Amino acid sequence: MQAPIIAPSILSANFARLGDEVSDVLASGAQWVHFDVMDNHYVPNLTIGPLVCDALRSHGITAPIDVHLMVSPVDQLITDFINAGASSITFHPEASQHIDRSLQLIRDAGLQCGLVFNPATPLHVLEHVMDKIDIVLLMSVNPGFGGQAFIPGTLEKLRDARKRIDLSGRPIRLEVDGGVKVDNIADIAAAGADTFVAGSAIFGAANANDANKYDSVIKQMNQAIAKVS
Ligand code: DX5
Ligand code: ZN
Repeated sequence: MQAPIIAPSILSANFARLGDEVSDVLASGAQWVHFDVMDNHYVPNLTIGPLVCDALRSHGITAPIDVHLMVSPVDQLITDFINAGASSITFHPEASQHIDRSLQLIRDAGLQCGLVFNPATPLHVLEHVMDKIDIVLLMSVNPGFGGQAFIPGTLEKLRDARKRIDLSGRPIRLEVDGGVKVDNIADIAAAGADTFVAGSAIFGAANANDANKYDSVIKQMNQAIAKVS
């Protein structure tokens, strides 16, 4: 398994001061910036697009920006996010008419690519693309909103995905998104995840008014993961 990565979802950040929020979570030890894109079509919510990704790069953010597309169709926005400085792009297989082509668009630009599986979406789509992806992202809530409760059946699905990844022999990241907290992250890691998206648990941390305000929650998450591995 690869070294763990904490990827705060900026969906729960204070958008009025987004650049500073992102700088703060990175200074507190987060490795990736998870960027949730919603279109009020594929999911019933509307968030942020390529302009905001580009603005974070202009603000000086050099950490990987992990773009999670919850949009349909996907191809135009893939191109737009490539141009806006994304590092990895994942999309939902149901949202693309031609999954292989959409993955190839991302790969051709030299970015990491991956597929996202909703709680009720089976993993069989992976069978024909394991040699073409860098990330498998399992949703542990239904996509659309931050702050929802982790769906427990995701643990079994993570174990299944972990087996498939290990069998492939490729360094594919197993990412989990939704309801990840300090008190369940150890179980999630034990089930095979190595990349942990957390929105409300990080940006809503109780001590968020202190200096280095996200240090404590990210440290607690890393400690809980370290006990498992
Ligand atoms: C949900 C998004 C998630 C969300 C996670 O559709 O993809 O990234 O922001 O938020 P929490 O961690 O609050 O469940
Ligand atoms: Zn997400």
